[in-house]
Amino acid sequence: MKIGVLGTGDVGQKLGSGFVSLGHDVEMGSRDAHNKNLKAWVAANGEHASGGTFAEAAKFGEVVVLATSWSGTENALKLAGPENLAGKIVVDATNPLIFPGGAPPPQLALGWNDSAGEQVQRWLPAAKVVKCFNTVGNALMVHPELPGGPPDMFIAGNDEAAKNVVAGFVKQFGWSVVDVGSIEGARLLEPLSILWVVYGMRNHSWEHAFKILHKT
Ligand SMILES: NC(=O)c1ccc[n+]([C@@H]2O[C@H](COP(=O)([O-])OP(=O)(O)OC[C@H]3O[C@@H](n4cnc5c(N)ncnc54)[C@H](OP(=O)(O)O)[C@@H]3O)[C@@H](O)[C@H]2O)c1
Repeated sequence: MKIGVLGTGDVGQKLGSGFVSLGHDVEMGSRDAHNKNLKAWVAANGEHASGGTFAEAAKFGEVVVLATSWSGTENALKLAGPENLAGKIVVDATNPLIFPGGAPPPQLALGWNDSAGEQVQRWLPAAKVVKCFNTVGNALMVHPELPGGPPDMFIAGNDEAAKNVVAGFVKQFGWSVVDVGSIEGARLLEPLSILWVVYGMRNHSWEHAFKILHKT
C-alpha cells in the first residue's frame, strides 16, 4: 500500500519507518521538500521511502498519517490540500498540546466538548479521520514489546471500515486495539496523552503504555 506521512518529527519518522518495515511504500511530507530531517529519513529507509512536500505526500498516500505539531496542523493540512485527502483514511496522531507555563507538563488547547480529532475531521470533511497513536510516546509506537504483553492502542473515528484498516496496521505493530467509537472519542484519548506525560515525569520513565485488564 502507499502511505503518506505528513510530518518530519519523531512520530512521522517512527511510523514512517514502521510502515516501510511492513513492506509499504512511504512518502514523507514537509513544508520544505529539502528539509534536513526528511532527507535523512529517506536516506536511512531504503528504496520504499521517499520525501516531498505535504501536498506530494498527501497525493501519494492511499492512507495518510498526520503527525504535525498542533499549532502547525491547520497550515499543514492547507498545504497538503484537503482535495488530496478526500475519501482517504487520515490517521491522526496529533495532540493539541500547549505549554502555558513554558515547560511540561503540557495542557490541552481544546477539550471536554471538542478535540483535535474532531477539528481535523472538520478541516477534512471528505476524509475518514481515525484518531490513533496519540496515547503513547513515539519510541513505543512500533513493536512496543513490553513485558506485560501487548498494550492497548485506543482508536476513534466515524468510518468503521477505515478503523478496521487502521486496526490491522496497529496489530501488525504489536498492539491490541480498543475502539472507543466515533471521532468524538478523541475527547477521551487526547487527555490520556497528558496522563502519559505526567506519569513519565513522576516516574522518570518513558517506556510505558496503557492497557485495560479484563477479568473474563
Ligand atoms: N513526540 C511524541 O512522542 C508524540 C507521541 C504522541 C503524539 N504526538 C503528537 O504527534 C504530533 C507530531 O509530534 P512530533 O514530536 O513528531 O513532531 P512535532 O515537532 O510536534 O511536529 C513536527 C512537524 O510539524 C510541522 N509543522 C510545525 N509547524 C508548522 C507550521 N506552522 N505549518 C505546517 N507544518 C508545521 C513540521 O513541518 P516541517 O517538516 O516543515 O518542519 C513537522 O513536519 C504532535 O501533534 C504531537 O503532539 C507526539
